[in-house]
Amino acid sequence: MSRIQRRKVTVIGAGNVGATTAQRIAESGLADVVLVDIVEGLPQGKGLDLAEAAPVVGHDARILGTNNYDDTTDSDVIVVTSGIARKPGMSRDDLINTNAGIVRSVVSEAAKRSPHAILVIVTNPLDAMCHVALKASGFPKERVIGMAGTLDSARFRHFIALEAGVSVEDVRAFVLGGHGDTMVPLPRYSSIGGIPLPEFLPADRVDAIVKRTRDGGAEIVGLLKTGSAFYAPAAATFEVVESILLDRRRLIPCAALLEGEYGVQGLYVGVPTVIGGGGIERIVEIKLTAEESTAFAKSAAAVKELVELL
Ligand code: APR
Repeated sequence: MSRIQRRKVTVIGAGNVGATTAQRIAESGLADVVLVDIVEGLPQGKGLDLAEAAPVVGHDARILGTNNYDDTTDSDVIVVTSGIARKPGMSRDDLINTNAGIVRSVVSEAAKRSPHAILVIVTNPLDAMCHVALKASGFPKERVIGMAGTLDSARFRHFIALEAGVSVEDVRAFVLGGHGDTMVPLPRYSSIGGIPLPEFLPADRVDAIVKRTRDGGAEIVGLLKTGSAFYAPAAATFEVVESILLDRRRLIPCAALLEGEYGVQGLYVGVPTVIGGGGIERIVEIKLTAEESTAFAKSAAAVKELVELL
């Protein structure tokens, strides 16, 4: 019998989002994790700390912290979180120049050593960084996925559950569009135990939740003052990685390169996708009302403007 090898996931960026994502992946036991950062000692220290937690948590995944891309060779999944995070008063878009350079360099280093990997991009501004990663890797579009919709939907679900006084487990919600101020939460496609959200909560409460979801990232930046959210982003990133590693084919919103879908050409925008072992297995097109379509087109236009800055 041939030896079964554990899968390998590289997480680039050993900061708040990267290290927390590495923790989730390692603790799931689904894959060995290589944690990479440009700062010497940081990934090694966090990697060792995570490995020392393993006996208590009870998993055997190996965790390696490194500054050397050779250690990432033959990864199944590469998660990109390296870059600078927002400070109060900054929008995600303000990060574009610095983070484009970082994403370009880390993706080209990692992609050439793992030519069959699936890239999961987390660095902001998310949709624009997916374009950078697609180009720098030369990978097919199915293997370059942007994690944003799962996070925005998680925030939406949390607020709905809070307002309705029900378990988060029974709340489904969809947020489409770019991962920015123009994102499009879709109450009509959100439900509580299968009951459409608009039948459960009055319109003014739904509107307030939609607004809080859109500003969800900024709300946390405002509270933290020195950085941006990471627990929910890491959990949402793990959801995508797990669906790839286990070929679960979860239907979750992710940023995907649209080539005609939703009337958009050549742009990464958040849409419902089926995520499996091959990456984006399918983009699901749903019918939008005139109002939703307008909001989606506006969001796509905002992404386009940013991409043109690159
Ligand atoms: N190569 C590798 N790592 C790098 C590089 C590089 N060229 N440049 C920066 N980094 C590392 C930093 O050293 C730092 O450890 O990326 C890490 C970023 O971590 P944090 O500053 O803690 O930021 P974090 O909160 O994790 O957010 C990272 O994810 O959600 C997005 O908007 C967020 O774009 C931001 C990214």
